[in-house]
Amino acid sequence: MSTNPAAASIEPERDLKIPRHIGVIMDGNGRWAQQRGLGRSEGHRAGVEAVRRIVGLARDYGVECLTLFSFSAENWRRPPDEVRFIFSLLRRFVASDLDKLDQSNVRIRIIGERDGLERGLRGIIDEVETRTRDNTGLDLIIAFNYGAKVEIVNATRAIARKVAAGELAPEEIDEATVAHHLDTSGLPDPDLILRTSGEMRLSNFLLWQSAYAELVFVPENWPDFDESVFVRALRTYTERDRRFGGIRT
Ligand code: FPP
Repeated sequence: MSTNPAAASIEPERDLKIPRHIGVIMDGNGRWAQQRGLGRSEGHRAGVEAVRRIVGLARDYGVECLTLFSFSAENWRRPPDEVRFIFSLLRRFVASDLDKLDQSNVRIRIIGERDGLERGLRGIIDEVETRTRDNTGLDLIIAFNYGAKVEIVNATRAIARKVAAGELAPEEIDEATVAHHLDTSGLPDPDLILRTSGEMRLSNFLLWQSAYAELVFVPENWPDFDESVFVRALRTYTERDRRFGGIRT
């Protein structure tokens, strides 16, 4: 099933359930680097390789939608050099991989706050989205300068503006209204949220959308993410009993 020859030894079970939408908190780049006596940048660089692996795996296994938490609204608290480096990685990733992703029919959407990003980067984001807009394969969502609480605040403001303008009555506001005003409008909610490096929290990632997601935490640092980790996470997901508040029938 995999196109990765290095992982050919892994035999995924036939009865694995494949989530429609996987959200990934890519954590542990810094620790991966530190364990090897390398600078944090090397961890992020290795993290990009893992991004390439998970995009290929998601496509191969038939996942419809993959959201990667690449830079959080809180990550600005890191040293400026590290922030600059992560930004440069996104730029370089687009420069080196956009053609291939486009040819592979991947549709890319970037979610998060665009204000606060420099104009050059905003231009790149626009280009990536416009270029891949009509693709019909994997939906790759890159959460960049993203924070779920800000996303919900922005949605609330947009809805309040419609109410103030008389376009919407407060009683008409329902879950669908809110979902429609989030950055992820039109996408299915994540079925699985996967976080690497053993940390067990959501860190302001897709809070509204993850209301019924299965949370799976794996001990590997993000740069060590490969097909064996992916299949193990899918197996855990498959074994979960998703009841959405109901009871097992
Ligand atoms: C978390 O590890 C990782 C990040 C905050 C950055 C993730 C960015 C990339 C993988 C590259 C850019 C993305 C794309 C799509 C090209 P950490 O630094 O928090 O690790 P630590 O907790 O061990 O310090």
